[in-house]
Amino acid sequence: MSKTKPKDKPKKGKTNSPPLSDRADKYRCYQLSVQEPSHEVDFFVQAFEEQFKRKPVHLREDFCGTFAVCCDWVKGHQGRTALGVDLDPEPLAWGKEHNLAPLTDAQKQRVTLHEDDVRRKMTPKQSPRCDVLAAQNFSFWLFKSRSEMLEYFRAARHHMADESVMVMDMMGGGDCYIEEHKDVRTIPGYGKPFGKFKYIWEQARIDPVTGDADFYISFRFKDGSKLARCFGYHWRFWTIPEIRELLHEAGFAESYVYWEEVDEDGDETGDWARVDEAPNDPSWLAYIVAVK
Ligand SMILES: C[S@@+](CC[C@H](N)C(=O)[O-])C[C@H]1O[C@@H](n2cnc3c(N)ncnc32)[C@H](O)[C@@H]1O
Repeated sequence: MSKTKPKDKPKKGKTNSPPLSDRADKYRCYQLSVQEPSHEVDFFVQAFEEQFKRKPVHLREDFCGTFAVCCDWVKGHQGRTALGVDLDPEPLAWGKEHNLAPLTDAQKQRVTLHEDDVRRKMTPKQSPRCDVLAAQNFSFWLFKSRSEMLEYFRAARHHMADESVMVMDMMGGGDCYIEEHKDVRTIPGYGKPFGKFKYIWEQARIDPVTGDADFYISFRFKDGSKLARCFGYHWRFWTIPEIRELLHEAGFAESYVYWEEVDEDGDETGDWARVDEAPNDPSWLAYIVAVK
C-alpha cells in the first residue's frame, strides 16, 4: 500500500471531552454521506416499470449492509416486501436498531433479513422470487474473477421472478484511475456535537495488471479527529461492457445502461435514461439494469 495512513490526532483543544471521532458512529456517518435510499427506490421502480409497464412489489437487496434501502422500500407502499442479504452481522445489527426500529409494526413484518452469502442459492421460501434484485454501491465488484462474478450473477438470477430486473451501479472515468486521490465533501445533518463533518473517499491503489483497486472511506470532524479508513473496499475495477457480457453469459435476456440526464447548462438533473453511448466524463456513475 503506497498510501500513508491519515493521522488520527485531534487538534490541540479547548476541551477535555473525548475527540469527536471516539463518539461518532461510523454507520451513521456513512448513511449521511453515501446513501440516498429514496433515490434508489425511485430508480428501481422506474427501471422495472419501463420494462414491464407495472409496479414492482418484491425487492431483494444483496450486500444490504444496514439495509436502509429495504426499509425505504417497504415504507413506500403497503404491499411491498423487502429481503436483505449480507454476510456481516455488524451492519445488520446496526440496521435493526437504527433503520428497522423506527418503522411501524406492519412495515417491519414486510422486511426479512438473511445473514448469508449472496451466492448461496436459496429456496423460494427463504428468498421469495423478487421483482427487483439490487446490488448497490459497487459491492459486486468484490468478485474479482469472471468465474466468481458469473457464479454470483447466476445465483442472483435464480432469486428473480420471471418478469424482473437486476439493478447494479457502476462508476468510471479517467479520474477514478488516479492513485492517492481524495474526494472530500462536507456533510451536514449529524446534529450536536458533531455539526458538519468531512467525508473523504480515497482511491489508494489501482493495479493496471490485475485491475485490483483499493478504496477507503474516512470521516474528519471539526475538532480535527478522524475515523480513518473505517470502511475499506478491495475490488476489481470492472467496466460496463465486461459486466454486460457476463450478465448475458449468466442467462439474462438483455441489459440496459442508464446515464444521468443533463440540462442545457450541462448540470445533472437527477433523471436517468437508457443510452447506447455516453460522453467520456472524467468521473461518472451509471446503472446497469439486467432483465431476467
Ligand atoms: C460496500 S458495502 C455496501 C452496503 C450497502 N449496500 C450500503 O450501501 O450500505 C458491501 C457489503 O457487502 C457485504 N458482503 C461482502 N461479501 C458478501 C457476500 N459474499 N455475501 C453477502 N454480503 C457480502 C459486506 O458485509 C458489506 O456489508
